[in-house]
Amino acid sequence: MPIADICAGVPALLSWFAENGRPLPWRLDATPYHVWISEVMLQQTRIEAVIPHYEAFIRLMPDLTALAEMPEERLLKCWEGLGYYSRARNLQKAAKAVVASGESELPQTYAELIRLPGIGEYTAGAIASIAFGECVPAVDGNVLRVLSRLLNDDTDVLSPAGKKHFTAVARALVPQTAGQFNQAIMELGETVCLPHTAPRCTVCPLAAVCRAKRAGTAADLPVRKKPRARRVEQKTVFLLLSEKEDAVLLHKRPQSGLLAGLYEFPNADGALTAEETLELLNEQGFTVYEMEKTAPAKHLFTHIEWQMSGFVARVCARDVSVDCVWAGTEELMGRFALPSAFKPFLKILQKHLT
Ligand code: ADE
Repeated sequence: MPIADICAGVPALLSWFAENGRPLPWRLDATPYHVWISEVMLQQTRIEAVIPHYEAFIRLMPDLTALAEMPEERLLKCWEGLGYYSRARNLQKAAKAVVASGESELPQTYAELIRLPGIGEYTAGAIASIAFGECVPAVDGNVLRVLSRLLNDDTDVLSPAGKKHFTAVARALVPQTAGQFNQAIMELGETVCLPHTAPRCTVCPLAAVCRAKRAGTAADLPVRKKPRARRVEQKTVFLLLSEKEDAVLLHKRPQSGLLAGLYEFPNADGALTAEETLELLNEQGFTVYEMEKTAPAKHLFTHIEWQMSGFVARVCARDVSVDCVWAGTEELMGRFALPSAFKPFLKILQKHLT
């Protein structure tokens, strides 16, 4: 794979980054811990949206030891809005593993980093290069797009073989200043080499060496073969208000599986009618005073789509099961981490809760 022509563009990319790199909070104080937290957050959310979450996270857990010691409920609350809660749990698992080994800082090499929970090739590469200057690539979706265009290469970037192929290209391109290079190519993907028909080739520092630019194919790259369709699941969500309408019932999900250990509004599989809902609630020991249907809502997970209908009901409950808890507005907003899937129902609740 001859790429000497592309290598020739690396100095221009680095100069461009030195002038145009954004002054992001984790760059201004690029400790290994800061780089780690920001990179994990950036895997799922746009930079602008990550900044306030990052700042709140670092305020609450300024170092790895604080992360290791944080009660899980507060950690998950802090992660609210970022989704993929397993990432927050893995951060803590990794922090605990480091502390258990008698250390208080992350290990300094790619080989050691990748052994920690939740740290894969990308994150290990980003931390090792940005925080420790190790000469390794960090290949995310932005980098795959930039590389496929630079090489005018239509290998499927979503396939394992494609990922391997472009990672090998990145490894061959990485200069001694690996951290700067990795950040520069990601930044280029985020601000210049934009997806679909939007690449801003006229301001690109790599335009002179870009094979797709020359061939006029940038808008057709990268090639991404469609993943399998999501499985659709119907759910009925119950917004159960206490008699005085000052609390809503939350249910703690099981400790394994989708959204493990998070709180949710009680719900059932399938799209239940009002009669079926009443019957179910009665069976569970609730006396229902009033009940009305809510607007439907939809949530997309990676492999599953939830189509949710809902009922809001004022109820009296003799006892609720041990994995349920009544939450007032303050607790609902400030204490319990509610997965994004249930957020549409919060708006509906606001009209009811006192
Ligand atoms: N996206 C994810 N990580 C990044 C980084 N370190 N620099 C620029 N963009 C990024």
